[in-house]
Formats: sequence, C-alpha cells, structure tokens
Amino acid sequence: MKALITAGGRGTRLRPITHTSNKHLIPIANKPMIHYALEAVLEAGIREIGIVISPETGHEIRAALGDGSAWNARFTYVLQNAPRGLADCVKVAEPFLGADPFVFYLGDNVIVGGIRHFVEQFQREGSNCHLVLARVKDPERFGVPEIVGGRIVAVEEKPTQPKSPYAVTGIYLYDRHIFEAVKAIRSGRRGEFEISDAHQFLLERGYRVGYSEITGWWKDTGKPEDLLEANRLVLDRILEEDGGRIAGTVDAASDVAGKVIVQKGATIVRSTIRGPAIIGVEAVVQDAYIGPFTAIGEGCEIRNSEVEYSIVLPRSRLLHVDVRIERSLLGREVTILRGETRPRTQKFIVGDQSVIELP
Ligand code: DAU
Repeated sequence: MKALITAGGRGTRLRPITHTSNKHLIPIANKPMIHYALEAVLEAGIREIGIVISPETGHEIRAALGDGSAWNARFTYVLQNAPRGLADCVKVAEPFLGADPFVFYLGDNVIVGGIRHFVEQFQREGSNCHLVLARVKDPERFGVPEIVGGRIVAVEEKPTQPKSPYAVTGIYLYDRHIFEAVKAIRSGRRGEFEISDAHQFLLERGYRVGYSEITGWWKDTGKPEDLLEANRLVLDRILEEDGGRIAGTVDAASDVAGKVIVQKGATIVRSTIRGPAIIGVEAVVQDAYIGPFTAIGEGCEIRNSEVEYSIVLPRSRLLHVDVRIERSLLGREVTILRGETRPRTQKFIVGDQSVIELP
C-alpha cells in the first residue's frame, strides 16, 4: 500500500497568506497542516509516500518535509506542472504509484481518529475504490454522493442540488483501475479534471465503490474560518490527551488556566492565558490576555494586547493594541501596534488581498 498526498494547487481562498507561502505549511496548533495528513498515513502503516507539489511552491514543501527519513518513511515528490485538478494529480503520479493500491489524501484535510480503519475496510471488502464520507451542513461545497439502498450510485462535484447530506472527504482508497478513470474523463465546470468525475466513471463502468462514514470530525481547511475551526478542534483534542505542558517560563504574576502548552523558550509575564491554547517556541507574552483556541507561533511578541480564537503565525508582533483581536488569522512577521502620535489615526501598510475589519 502506498499513499499520495497533495501539496500543490493555488490556495486562492487563503490569500494573502498563500502569496508568500504554500497553504499546506500554514500551522494548525503550531504544526504545519500537512503534518496531520502525513501522521494519519504513517499511523496506518504506510511508508511509501508520494507528495504532489507545484513548480511555484514545491521547493518550500521539499525543504520543510525532506526525504522522509526523519519520519522513518520514503517521500517521493511528484511535480504537477499546473493545478489541473485532483484527477490530474493521480494521473501524474502513476509512475510512482504503479500497480499498488493506494490512499489518496488531500493535504488540506484534517481528521481526528486516523485512517487505519478505512484502509482495513477497503482491503477487507476488496473494492476498487473506497470513499470516506462525512455528514455536513453545506454539501454543495464538496463532492456529493447519491446513495440508494446502502450503495453509492453517483457522485457529483459541488452540485447546486445535493442528492445527500454527505461530503466526499479528501481521503480516498483506490486500486489500479483509477488510472483508467483519470485518463478517460474530460475537464469539468471549473476547468479542472475533477476526482468526482473519475468516481462517476468507475461507477458507470460497474467497478465496486465502497464507502464509510467519518464519525469523529473532519475539516477541509479551504477558507480562513475553516482553519480557525480546525485549530480549535485540534487544540481541544491534543490538550485533552496530554493536559497541557509548560516547557517555557511563566512568572508568578501570570494566571494560566485550562489546558495550555507553553513551548520551549517561551516567556509569559504578568499575563492571563485561558486554554486550550498554545504559545510557540521563544514567544514572549507580556501584560497580555490569550483566550481559548488560540495558537501563538514561534518567536511572536504579544505585549499589552488581547487575542482570542486566532492563529498568529511565527514572528508576528501585537504591541499595545487596545481592541481584542478575535477570529483572526495573522501571517508571518505581521506587526500590529498602537501609534503614539496625535491625532490618533489608523495607519496601514497592508499586503494584497488582506482583510481588516475595524470595530
Ligand atoms: O476536501 C474535500 C473536497 O476536496 C471534495 O469534497 C471534493 O470533491 C474535491 O474536489 C476537493 O474539493 P476542493 O475544491 O476543496 O479541492 P481543492 O482545489 O481545494 O484542492 C484540494 C487539495 O489538492 C489541496 O491540498 C490542494 C491540492 N491540489 C488541488 C488542485 C486543484 C493540487 O495539489 N493540485 C491541483 O491541481
């Protein structure tokens, strides 16, 4: 069994962060998003892993993940020349995948509970394709199956009128017949070769398409609010497991309550921290409030400011900001500070496609 994980695409819905960095390296609970996919695949016992990269940001992914030896695995980078869709990812990876069955895992999907049971079910049932479904409120955002008598009879990509309340998540299992499908289909409405069309092809040719349902939680981190939600869920989960730990320093005047991780070299001075939260390596939090579901990245400086339900990427600074920052995603090396000059005006130096909401 091999695995193929996607780390290409454009990441347009996460601009401006993705102007300068690959989406799959955005941290969730201070860990690059793609680590969750890798961990799930490794936990299922798979060591031969292909990673789909783009010409624009592939070098960044390679530099971050290496050759797999640190993970006791072997990573093969598969270059997709242009973001032509998920079916195209499978097509360009054929030389790596060969005739082995494989897991196709979208690197922007985060799931708790692992994938081992899906792999086992696929092997046990001997199907040609196995789809992992999740019940969602907004199926029109996803690939949607039509289920009749306990069997998937059709799959449609982002339908205006979904035929079930399920999303086909970004975790798929295939045998070699998928290559027939990805080569046969034409590009769809979005101008991409859709994986849902490949599934529809398999169904029409009479191949066996099984499925299981995710009962825990699953998140496709396409949009900023999905990232915040994934951060909340992951923080809740990891902190429930290990109860938090303080590897940095917290002074006596600080109040740290709930489950909190203070990573190595981080300093908390005269501050209140309400978990679940994580404070990154070498970060400084002084005279500040860090509220629940917040991840403060490595080397950040939070002084005299309040942050809650947010992700702050490495080396950003919040200095004397007198409104609470909430439901926010701040990129790397961002500075927000209160100016000292009069009259008090708002002054911005903001990158392309940034969003700022004023109180
Ligand atoms: O997350 C589940 C959904 O993923 C499914 O329900 C849909 O059926 C499926 O089409 C897909 O929809 P998205 O619109 O969310 O896919 P997106 O374009 O965001 O790409 C998903 C991942 O694949 C992400 O890791 C980026 C990567 N990618 C994407 C494209 C289009 C590539 O590596 N190459 C590509 O050409």
